[in-house]
Amino acid sequence: MALSTVILAAGFGTRMKSDTPKVLHTISGEAMIFHTIKAAKAVSDNVTVVLYHQHETVRQAIENRFEGIDFVLQDVKNYPGTGGALKGLEFSAEEVLIINGDMPLVTPASLQPLIETKADIVMSVLDLKDAKGYGRVVIEKQQVKKIVEQKDCDSSQLALQTANAGVYKVKKELLDEYIPQLSNDNAGKEYYLTDIIEMGVCQRRTIKPAFVSQDAFKGVNSKLDLAEAEVLMQERIKKQWMQQGVIMHLPQTIYIDCNAVFEGECELESGVSVFGASRLVESCLKTGTVVEDATLINSKAGPYARIRPKSTLRQTQIGNFVETKKAALTGVKAGHLSYLGDCEIDAGTNIGAGVITCNYDGKNKYKTVIGKNVFVGSDCQLVAPVVLEDDTMVAAGTTLNKDVTKGSLAISRPALKQIKNFFYKFFK
Ligand code: UD1
Ligand code: CA
Repeated sequence: MALSTVILAAGFGTRMKSDTPKVLHTISGEAMIFHTIKAAKAVSDNVTVVLYHQHETVRQAIENRFEGIDFVLQDVKNYPGTGGALKGLEFSAEEVLIINGDMPLVTPASLQPLIETKADIVMSVLDLKDAKGYGRVVIEKQQVKKIVEQKDCDSSQLALQTANAGVYKVKKELLDEYIPQLSNDNAGKEYYLTDIIEMGVCQRRTIKPAFVSQDAFKGVNSKLDLAEAEVLMQERIKKQWMQQGVIMHLPQTIYIDCNAVFEGECELESGVSVFGASRLVESCLKTGTVVEDATLINSKAGPYARIRPKSTLRQTQIGNFVETKKAALTGVKAGHLSYLGDCEIDAGTNIGAGVITCNYDGKNKYKTVIGKNVFVGSDCQLVAPVVLEDDTMVAAGTTLNKDVTKGSLAISRPALKQIKNFFYKFFK
């Protein structure tokens, strides 16, 4: 495929009202521009990202996530605008796909109509009831005639329902010819990429619209757009997993990161959130449970459990208000109100209500290791580092700061006193 992609991400993103660069705002767990780059990499030989505003931050973020991306710094002072972004660029392939960096919903499949259409310029067009915020596309006799930016529209143009979605496929030779000729004679005093359409029309080039849908071509300019794009992305992610066999109760209340994976028949109740690169195999998350970068295999969690990063649960059941972090639990039951952090717990072990692994002494973190068939009674504090060998018991209310040897019971409990008639004397 002789196709290069250029992603435009130099803009100030003023409408986003944020110190974070617009394209680094996240949708379903990844920066907007990462979604766009993934789609671009899938359909083209090379990907160039044009940067300016906060370019160091954006470049660093992209380089941490992807290899082999080229970067270009736009001369925004002299050539602002989406046309200015392409000034001085050299293209190696015969055709160039230009994608606005604020289009996180594009997918390889949704780009196919543009890629397959043969013309000198193919541009993506949305048919919208209200095209507010978009450039309007003037189409006559199925040929694109021009694009008028919202700021430059007269009242009849404002009423047009055909909007420029912001992705174009242009022959390299046309870009080489037209980009140097762009002017900034418009309301925004910017060099508009969209002016290449009129230049093409003058030369009687073939300029074809490719009608696309907002599900994949929505532009994100504001935090409202960001939220709406995330809803669309979530619908897509959840639909895909349901088609692959995941059961979801009230899916509109469920959140799933784009990097999460499910295997076998998993079940998610309402209000569940699965963040990061979590992996669930034949597991069930009950109402309100949160999983973050964790693995569950043949396990059940919740309602209202929180499984934090680097936790691995196998054949395990954890109940309400149980929090795990960096916990390897195999064949464990922990029904209620526990914190299990920096620990390994083995099969047949029961963790009573309110048990806490005290993993942090204010300076360092330590590990708790619990063997097989251990019974830890309610409300125990396991002060790490500590080892509970197989077949041990810890009595309710114990503060455990020594290892327990195989077969033993550990109990730390002050003797109980009863003071007769204390109540009546106290409230006399
Ligand atoms: C642009 C289109 C508009 C279209 C809309 C679709 C132009 C002139 N207008 O408008 O017709 O309907 O997208 O979403 O192209 N950028 C640069 N350098 C700049 C300015 C912008 O790289 O100097 C980048 C931005 O970072 C952004 C993208 O180009 O990712 C689009 O810029 P934006 O300002 O959002 O354009 P729109 O006003 O949305
Ligand atoms: Ca935009």
